[in-house]
Amino acid sequence: MQNFTGRLAVVTGAGSGIGRELARSLASEGCHLALLDIDETAVEETAGMCRAPAIVVSTHRCDVADAAAVERTADDVRAVHGVDHVNVLINNAGIGSVEGFVHGDRAAWELTFDVCWGGVYHCCRSFVPLVIAADEGVIVNVSSVNGMWASLGPNRTHTSYSAAKFAVRGFTEALMTEMRLVAPHVDVAVVMPGHIGTSILSNSQARLGRRATTNLAETEAAFQATAPTTPAEAARIVLDGVRAGRWRILIGPDAELLDVALRADPEGAYEPSFVEHLHEQGAFQGLIDPV
Ligand SMILES: NC(=O)c1ccc[n+]([C@@H]2O[C@H](COP(=O)([O-])OP(=O)(O)OC[C@H]3O[C@@H](n4cnc5c(N)ncnc54)[C@H](O)[C@@H]3O)[C@@H](O)[C@H]2O)c1
Repeated sequence: MQNFTGRLAVVTGAGSGIGRELARSLASEGCHLALLDIDETAVEETAGMCRAPAIVVSTHRCDVADAAAVERTADDVRAVHGVDHVNVLINNAGIGSVEGFVHGDRAAWELTFDVCWGGVYHCCRSFVPLVIAADEGVIVNVSSVNGMWASLGPNRTHTSYSAAKFAVRGFTEALMTEMRLVAPHVDVAVVMPGHIGTSILSNSQARLGRRATTNLAETEAAFQATAPTTPAEAARIVLDGVRAGRWRILIGPDAELLDVALRADPEGAYEPSFVEHLHEQGAFQGLIDPV
């Protein structure tokens, strides 16, 4: 899709970070928006940044992990925008956690998986028919570098998020072939961000029902300060990738470096020396602990 003007885009997780910046960029190009987030206040704030005379911007409080809620939201989007199609579906909502599989809190493990994978799945179930109904469409699913590397280094557990992000990547790559068979006017892209300076740590803790602490605020400030890519830059890379018709969109120099390193040494990917190599190259220093 070359041009977003006059199109309708659904963006999940639009209340913060990458989703908010995607919404702002699309609005600046004259794209109508349906903005979804579980955080009603945050998504209203994003809408306020996007609204302009030539476009319709709707907000929808929606938990993407809840299939029935997503289905109701799809009906609402059609009603509010008065259309039976969607041109752009961006499944971006997600939370992070390093909950252990063996010793961690099972509810937190499953919530992470349900939001990161279930959210993409439910939104595709409910919105892909509307994308197919458009004359031209694109489905963009946000995975992660953890969709190609199931690790945050040798000192932290990372099973839930990694499992979910691998699922997003596998599903999306297979969906691309399926769309070529059944709906060739619909493009499909998987996005694999590296370290992006968003508020994902505090937002995730809030979703997991955990209290904000001074320590968390400091950790998040460091997380944002050390990120090589801002949310606005991430949104630009995603939309440029979509315009260029790319199906595999890596975000950031760290993601690009990891991609190369994994191909060079797949067997060594989970060894401490692999992280040392990434750190020597200047990648993931603020995200992955030194070995
Ligand atoms: N920030 C990074 O370093 C990074 C790296 C790789 C991948 N990602 C992925 O990018 C995407 C966006 O993350 P971000 O960094 O902008 O995070 P963010 O926390 O800034 O934004 C995520 C948004 O999703 C919303 N959300 C959370 N759970 C939801 C639910 N159940 N239903 C609806 N909305 C929900 C949050 O309220 C928030 O507004 C996520 O899928 C994340 O996994 C982020």
